[in-house]
Amino acid sequence: MLSIIIKEIVEKLGGSGYASEIILLKEKGMKDIVLKKFAEVFGDTEGAKVYFAPGRVNMIGEHTDYNGGHVFPAALTIGTYGVARKRNDNKLRFFSMNFEHLGIIESDLDDLKPYKEAGWTNYPKGVMWAFGEKGMKVESGMDLLLNGNIPNGSGLSSSASVEVLTGFILRDFFGFDVTNQDLALIGQFSENKFNGVNCGIMDQFSIAMGKKAHAIFLDTADLSFEYAPIKLENAKIVIACSNKKRGLGDSKYNERRDECETALAELQKVVDIKSLGELTEEQFEANKSAIASDIRIKRAKHAVYENQRTMKAVAALQANDVTLFGQLMNASHVSLRDDYEVTGIELDTLVEEAWKIDGVIGSRMTGAGFGGCTVSIVKDEAIDTFIEKVGAAYKEKIGYAADFYVVELGDGPSIL
Ligand code: GLA
Repeated sequence: MLSIIIKEIVEKLGGSGYASEIILLKEKGMKDIVLKKFAEVFGDTEGAKVYFAPGRVNMIGEHTDYNGGHVFPAALTIGTYGVARKRNDNKLRFFSMNFEHLGIIESDLDDLKPYKEAGWTNYPKGVMWAFGEKGMKVESGMDLLLNGNIPNGSGLSSSASVEVLTGFILRDFFGFDVTNQDLALIGQFSENKFNGVNCGIMDQFSIAMGKKAHAIFLDTADLSFEYAPIKLENAKIVIACSNKKRGLGDSKYNERRDECETALAELQKVVDIKSLGELTEEQFEANKSAIASDIRIKRAKHAVYENQRTMKAVAALQANDVTLFGQLMNASHVSLRDDYEVTGIELDTLVEEAWKIDGVIGSRMTGAGFGGCTVSIVKDEAIDTFIEKVGAAYKEKIGYAADFYVVELGDGPSIL
């Protein structure tokens, strides 16, 4: 019922219509849909297998993963579906149902290089390259068809989902001796070195290691982690997608990372630390004068405080204090808006409108920022109002509609 209402609201507001109802319908019939399309595109389904890797949402701990801090992400039940089959030659043939107009994109195992015009196929190619770099040569080509129900460029890690999916397929095809955690590291390596985005480990890790109904409390300093059950009584996780594409996001992302690295080097002249994640708020305040620019002080402050906030938030959740967890989510957004400066009018509008609504326990941007999505914990009885009011205010102010998803937390990659 609720999802039907959501669908109606989304349609009324002119959104592109990825409401939960549609997602559920898609999930049920997805295996048939992708196999049918594979046959249409590549001739038949002989020898083809169907795979899935999730997207992820980060509950709290943003821009901490490349600062040796903690993160608290979770895999979603939406993600990327893939049909793959080994070939007898070195050819790679890719097709995405999300970019049908691009048709089949061809490449070759002997030419694993990133090309701008190769678009999304640089992600699977990057992972094939990364396996080779790690001494696991991909011995034969493949036909690969993808269909994702994560909105692209939304900050729910559609690219990391494709990377982990590709690694999972390669392990299945060639028997490579790698764990799911290795798949995450290989995915990150390919994103850093092949695709030039200096991302941390959070996205690939949460996707490769996802667990139904749990989030992952991960210490990115040493990759130790703990699964934390997300039991929200009478409340759900709602994702609002701004539909603002990241665009310049990747270069801004690398810029933030550089700012943090410079701030760390400045702090290291006065304190013995390996990362910003080692500092408490007090230690940061006592030493921040070592950082020569006000901008870098703000960036480093976010990294330090956000890390501490993440630890407090997980402790609050474990103590069943969802209210405090929500307050820390809100504080996270303020810090990302004012100190880290990665939000923008679209994400701020979604979050600030959400805060006005009774029954919203917490709301913040999620992912890299600069567009993308927000994550909110909303009481069941307030979800309809949330979608209606935030949706209307957003459209009024920004000029186009946001999309809303009531999401569930799911498992890592699988064979279907
Ligand atoms: C992107 C990156 C992650 C992480 C987040 C911000 O999603 O891929 O590694 O840095 O941004 O928290």
